[in-house]
Amino acid sequence: MKLLIDDARIEKIKRIYEFYPVDGVTTNPSILAKGGRKPYDVLTEIRSFIGGDAELHVQVISRTAEDMVAEGHKITSLLGINTYIKIPTDAEGLKAMKILSSEGYHITATTIYTPMQAFLAAKVGADYAAPYVNRIDDLGSNGIQATRCMHDIFVNNSLKTQILAASFKNSLQIQELCEHGIGACTATPEVIEGLIKNAGVSSAIDVFNRDFESLCGENKTMLDCE
Ligand code: E4P
Repeated sequence: MKLLIDDARIEKIKRIYEFYPVDGVTTNPSILAKGGRKPYDVLTEIRSFIGGDAELHVQVISRTAEDMVAEGHKITSLLGINTYIKIPTDAEGLKAMKILSSEGYHITATTIYTPMQAFLAAKVGADYAAPYVNRIDDLGSNGIQATRCMHDIFVNNSLKTQILAASFKNSLQIQELCEHGIGACTATPEVIEGLIKNAGVSSAIDVFNRDFESLCGENKTMLDCE
């Protein structure tokens, strides 16, 4: 399962890249709005930091298929062909996905709340379908169950589309999807750091350090304990 960062703050992205095994960055208009900077300024900075081969996902804003296609062309011409054009999955979006996918562009079908949206996006050639796990939970349905169902629909219908699950609030949600073998998850830096945050682990490491220092002296390590 790939793991991506759902954020546009360059300092946060740099920190996660330094410590965690991640495969790229996803953004959406709300994430860009939080940063308050011009979209292409921040996206170009992210692209130059993560490199041309990493996945960068950027959402279109237009409401008609023709304009979405034009936005997709501009996004990839400025940010590279490994940029996944995120397209909201309504009727216009499906039409735009069909056109862009026939032209060879990478597509992420976004704002997925139901398995049938995912199925249709897969049928028109989207590379990824992005279900919003937490938002589905908030509507009273089960986001994990719905996402697993979408994954199974792809596998059972021999559709090449992968899941890019989004909208997480905790580690368990990601673990449950990892266990099911879905394609990718994207999460905020805070949720990614939470995947490894564990008081039991920290306290075990502290005890090891204290025991070693009691043997060899304060601040000693295997480098200078002779
Ligand atoms: C990613 O594709 C989505 O835009 C995003 O993760 C939604 O997350 P949220 O529900 O936390 O806003």
